[in-house]
Amino acid sequence: MLDFITSVAREAGAVLRSGFRGDRQLNYKNRTELVTDMDLASERLIVSRIAEHFPEHQIVTEEGGGRDQRSRWVWVIDPLDGTNNYAHGVPFYCVSIALLVDDQLELGVVYDPTHDECFTATAGDKAQVNGQPLRISAINDLRHGYLTTGYAYDRWSGEPNNLPETTAMMLECQSLRCMGSAALDLCYVAAGRSDGYWELHLSPWDGAAGALIVQQAGGKVTNVGGGAFSPWQPDLLASNGLLHASILQVLARSGTEQR
Ligand code: IPD
Ligand code: CA
Ligand code: CA
Repeated sequence: MLDFITSVAREAGAVLRSGFRGDRQLNYKNRTELVTDMDLASERLIVSRIAEHFPEHQIVTEEGGGRDQRSRWVWVIDPLDGTNNYAHGVPFYCVSIALLVDDQLELGVVYDPTHDECFTATAGDKAQVNGQPLRISAINDLRHGYLTTGYAYDRWSGEPNNLPETTAMMLECQSLRCMGSAALDLCYVAAGRSDGYWELHLSPWDGAAGALIVQQAGGKVTNVGGGAFSPWQPDLLASNGLLHASILQVLARSGTEQR
């Protein structure tokens, strides 16, 4: 199963890479939310491969090309995470695929075509990148922490827009970045490149695969109030575990606790 879906993610990633910085057809889903012809091409490829192998499985995708049938097996797919980067020629984007069985995360694959890095995890096994074990960071002081976050496309429409949280965190940690790909943000926590990542308004396909990869690398994933993480809920905090309590504290102080 993992080999199959890894090769599908790599195949879709190769499609994205081949179209990178080419002439793009851009459409706006709303005021700021972009979709390109390559999001759709990648999604078609992934859905057709999964549907062919597992005709009884449900497939949930960002661009709506999935299969709406009830099943214990639910694939959750972002065919291009980091669309904004991709559309602007910024090489930080990926393919993200998760599988839930009976609503439990069973498998996650995130493929970064630019760096040819394939992050993988299955429940109960150590997370890997290109077959090598991933290890989270050992930073235990928020003042030395390198964190990332992101913002919903419709942030102008009201709270929560993550702006108070950003201001508060900026003053507490060493670096705070907005990289533009939630799935890779999570994989970078799993790889020990970053020490924590949070976001308030994710969709299931943004965080599902990466959350399992963080957990199986030894990191911690909760919602931003410190409660249990669910891919079906919009907020998420992932960290190396050591900084989790300090990050929660800063987020709470800045307003997250009121939600
Ligand atoms: C977005 C990216 C971004 C995050 C947004 C997501 P998309 O997904 O993951 O980093 O901040 O919340 O919607 O639109 O590039 O697939
Ligand atoms: Ca996404
Ligand atoms: Ca996407």
